[in-house]
Amino acid sequence: MSKEVHVVVGARPNQMKAAPLLKLLRDSPDFDPFLVDTGQHYDHEMAGIFFEQFGMGSPNISLNVGSATHGKQTAQILEAYEAVLLERQPDAVIVIGDVNSTVACSLAATKLHVPTIHLEAGLRSNDRKMPEELNRIVTDHLCDLLWTPSPDGDENLSREGISSEKIVRVGNIMIDTLVQMEDLFKARNMKQELGIQGRHLVVTLHRPSNVDHTEVLESILHQLQTMAESFTLIWPMHPRTKARVESFGLNTYLDHPNIRCVPPLGYVEFMSLVASSNGVITDSGGIQEETTYLGLPCLTVRPNTERPITITQGTNRLIPSSEITTSSDVFSKKSMPRPMIDLWDGKTAERCLDSLKKLL
Ligand code: UD1
Repeated sequence: MSKEVHVVVGARPNQMKAAPLLKLLRDSPDFDPFLVDTGQHYDHEMAGIFFEQFGMGSPNISLNVGSATHGKQTAQILEAYEAVLLERQPDAVIVIGDVNSTVACSLAATKLHVPTIHLEAGLRSNDRKMPEELNRIVTDHLCDLLWTPSPDGDENLSREGISSEKIVRVGNIMIDTLVQMEDLFKARNMKQELGIQGRHLVVTLHRPSNVDHTEVLESILHQLQTMAESFTLIWPMHPRTKARVESFGLNTYLDHPNIRCVPPLGYVEFMSLVASSNGVITDSGGIQEETTYLGLPCLTVRPNTERPITITQGTNRLIPSSEITTSSDVFSKKSMPRPMIDLWDGKTAERCLDSLKKLL
């Protein structure tokens, strides 16, 4: 009989990691995948559009938790998912990444002794002020099997005393999605659709450390105005950032003909703009990897990264929030060849499936 395997998604970065694995699970006679959407992200542009673009179909169940404080949101997911587990008694649960849904569902599943696997395990920013870092640590210590993307992940887990038997290096699942979608996003000319001429950069910023303090956000916006003298800036704005710009009364900084704020974009639209850009200014995790794969310059406005390989082997540079303009020389360099990074090959989902078969 095929085994019921739950794949849990909650917030935007989860869907693009779940999609390639879900497809293989659906194609396999050994597994009966069950897609759980916690509803941590709920707007169409933050969630539904990704289910559509990746051909994932509708989730088998939606927990509809929505936004709340971290404690409340995590607790609501824990409670709602425990009920699903008790009813369905799955053979395994796969949790992904570092969001509140990841930690809540791994706690619910492991307490019920359901074999639980963490996809994208072992990443560490070593910054416990980031909610994602706490989610990563707790999830990794709860789960039975840890699928890591790179050697630094294995080393971080070993340093924390986790047995090597639990660790399987499968590679970078985001790159599976990128490889599968590349023809599609290269065929889409979003730059033209938005009527942009000349050089452009893509901006994404939503980390609390950058957007939740008036002075920091004002300094960033001031610097982006300066950058807009040389580049068109396209900024798909996260709801958290939009709310902060408005509540701090900083909207006038965005009144510049070369600053184009747009709502959060689908994967195809977003990656079309990234691939045709001169580079990206971000504080996201995944975008550091996507720009590295594409050989595009990336300034990451953070003091640390849980993805050090993007710096040692890739095109990423960490900068403080006060040094955006002074670091902009990276965007004038000639394009670089794509770095070749081990296991960033579009075959991570296959290795996950092999590992899952061994576990079950
Ligand atoms: C969450 C993740 C973060 C991830 C990010 C990607 C955690 C701890 N954080 O942060 O790791 O990089 O998602 O987007 O899990 N909102 C909407 N519509 C939505 C979702 C959220 O308007 O569909 C609003 C919320 O009401 C809130 C703000 O956006 O005001 C922030 O959302 P929240 O889920 O709290 O955290 P993120 O900053 O999105």
